Amino acid sequence: MSLYDLIMRRRSIRNFKDQEIPEHIIEELLDVANNAPSGGNIQPISLILVQEAKRRKELSEIVGGQPWVKNAPLSMVFCIDFYRIKKWSSMFDTDFKGENALSHFLIAYADLMCAAQNVVILAENYELGSVYVGTIQSNVDRARQYFMIPQYVLPMMVLSIGYPKSVPRNIPKFKRNVIAHKERYEVLSDDDIKKAFENKYGSFDDNVEKYLKKAFIEVVEADKQQDQKSWTELVKEEMKKLEIRNNAQFLFKLRYPSEAMVKMNENLVRAFRNAGFDFYGL
Ligand SMILES: Cc1cc2nc3c(=O)[nH]c(=O)nc-3n(C[C@H](O)[C@H](O)[C@H](O)COP(=O)(O)O)c2cc1C
Repeated sequence: MSLYDLIMRRRSIRNFKDQEIPEHIIEELLDVANNAPSGGNIQPISLILVQEAKRRKELSEIVGGQPWVKNAPLSMVFCIDFYRIKKWSSMFDTDFKGENALSHFLIAYADLMCAAQNVVILAENYELGSVYVGTIQSNVDRARQYFMIPQYVLPMMVLSIGYPKSVPRNIPKFKRNVIAHKERYEVLSDDDIKKAFENKYGSFDDNVEKYLKKAFIEVVEADKQQDQKSWTELVKEEMKKLEIRNNAQFLFKLRYPSEAMVKMNENLVRAFRNAGFDFYGL
């Protein structure tokens, strides 16, 4: 299979077989994470391998009860790690102040995702599936405590990996010309913006179950993997209550309500401060 086909075939996997990943493959996954591009080649990242059942369960709770984190044989907790660099620089009569420099932080987060995406691609090549779980960012303090993560280290992303039991095949994407601009930014007309999203999501579907498979696969997968059906029902109730009538409302009234998203700043900034990060005035 060409690399193009491999990447185009990849989907986020949330339904894993109960099958261990061979150690030599895990070692290669770590190699490609370590070999990823890194701003200034500073490599301000660490990752924690989570494989023990009890730790998988706890991590799953830390990320808000997403069952695939418990069910995957391996999760990697990707951290921005300024601890190691700060220690090293202080031993050599200089200091590194990444915890106060937004620029270092942004580059470190990009480094982290480069490393993680290398893992995603190599995993795919071994017929492993994976899913990013970003909600660890809502529980940084608890994750730091549980994994004994020191100051100046922030767990920012989880990648759960395993052999797929099923692959979702209904995930909508933009047409490529929506995201690609030639030589300069080409502002889309209101009509073109509407069309871009219409092409992506299709018309708002009355069949809620079918709609959720396309627009909120997480709840459909979660309900398949737990005893009582609850998330889908909750979403259906919310859709009714909030009178959701289109795709945009579904996303920004229900899934990512704008006010609530802004409110999450408080929690995140507090967790950053607890880890020793402070971007003064921001
Ligand atoms: C930064 C980031 C955070 C994500 N967080 C979650 C998450 O918390 N839970 C989850 O089930 N999927 C999560 N995903 C996976 C996305 O839902 C998924 O990539 C998206 O639905 C598109 O599907 P695809 O990966 O199959 O193209 C995340 C993806 C990214 C890139």
